[in-house]
Amino acid sequence: MNDLTFASLLTPEGRALLDEVRGTAPAQELAVATRLRRAHPAELVSAALAQARLRERAAAKFGADAERMFFTPNGVEQSTRSTVAAHRAERLRALGVTCVADLCCGIGGDAIALARAGIRVLAVDRDPLTARVARANAAALGLSALIEVREADVMDVDVSSYDAVFVDPARRGGRGRIFDPEAYAPPLSWAVATARKAPYAALKVAPGIPHEAVPAGAEAEWISDGGDVKEAVLWFGTQPGLVRATLLPGPRVLRGRGLPDPPVRPPGRYLYEPDGAVIRAHLVAEVAEELDGGLIDETIAYVTADEHRASPYATAYEITDRIPFNVKKLKALLREREVGVLTVKKRGSAVEPEELRHKVLPKPHGANAVTVFLTRVTGGPTMLLGHPVQP
Ligand SMILES: C[S@@+](CC[C@H](N)C(=O)[O-])C[C@H]1O[C@@H](n2cnc3c(N)ncnc32)[C@H](O)[C@@H]1O
Repeated sequence: MNDLTFASLLTPEGRALLDEVRGTAPAQELAVATRLRRAHPAELVSAALAQARLRERAAAKFGADAERMFFTPNGVEQSTRSTVAAHRAERLRALGVTCVADLCCGIGGDAIALARAGIRVLAVDRDPLTARVARANAAALGLSALIEVREADVMDVDVSSYDAVFVDPARRGGRGRIFDPEAYAPPLSWAVATARKAPYAALKVAPGIPHEAVPAGAEAEWISDGGDVKEAVLWFGTQPGLVRATLLPGPRVLRGRGLPDPPVRPPGRYLYEPDGAVIRAHLVAEVAEELDGGLIDETIAYVTADEHRASPYATAYEITDRIPFNVKKLKALLREREVGVLTVKKRGSAVEPEELRHKVLPKPHGANAVTVFLTRVTGGPTMLLGHPVQP
């Protein structure tokens, strides 16, 4: 899609076509396109169908809003999902922020959430089409009064009159994901220097960012949504040095207290799998303390305890069997227990879960469900069998 085709999608004819192609199944696309091309320019019909597909993909991030929004393929891919953007916007609102410079706004995922939190936004992107799409999204959602979109290089923007700066650098290049924060566009060092110029700032970074790369004086927040780790945010102007794990929906917030590593102990009746945000934030010790538990191995983030305590930060399993890693033994056990549903989880094991499942349970033996953890217990490859504790 180029600038011109996008502009024609915004005309009454383009909007009518978008309504018409909504919900077209992939198998019907050719027939629908052939019919519509009799009355409309071919390029516009293709753009409308492509936009309908992008909206469907975007629904996972933007829910019902996706139907009214506009996207580019990169824009959907790189945008922040609305739940995470809303959480961040709410934090900024709670800090008293009233105007934000959203540097690298993309198609506007974060700008929309910020505006919905009542914050005025200057949304900047250097890509002309992306900036137009962001502008169209602000209009489509009735947020134009709060969002000013500017097509510019963020490095040329004066942020001195804003309460806060938000930067979400591009982390994908021609060869896929970029892991080196200095290879982000713009580089993390530029974002950090800009962040320090405003009273508050939030920089979105990859969740795999090493803790050593967190700049001095920043707070680091790891965010998961529905159990999947989505991103990390470096905050400036909040609590220097704080590390937190935020679990959405909620939010459930676990703050680091600088605890030493938990003790290693033999597996007890319960095994806890901490949320990914807790693990990335290195807050397993904080969860272990809450659960009165220890680690099954000093290098593995599974917590074990003798008694069950419910925690929002970890999923609890009741362990029924502990056996040294042995495929034959596992296969026999599953048959004996009439297992039909096997969930394989692993931490500290090189075994491929799908391969193992195929070997040990080629067909169901019954209706029972079992979870097997492939892991290490004080260094030894071990299988722990159990089932989730019902909340
Ligand atoms: C990860 S996306 C932003 C996604 C956005 N937060 C959202 O939720 O939709 C990064 C954007 O940064 C833009 N960008 C990269 N370098 C830039 C620069 N120097 N100036 C302006 N925009 C830039 C890219 O064009 C891209 O649209």
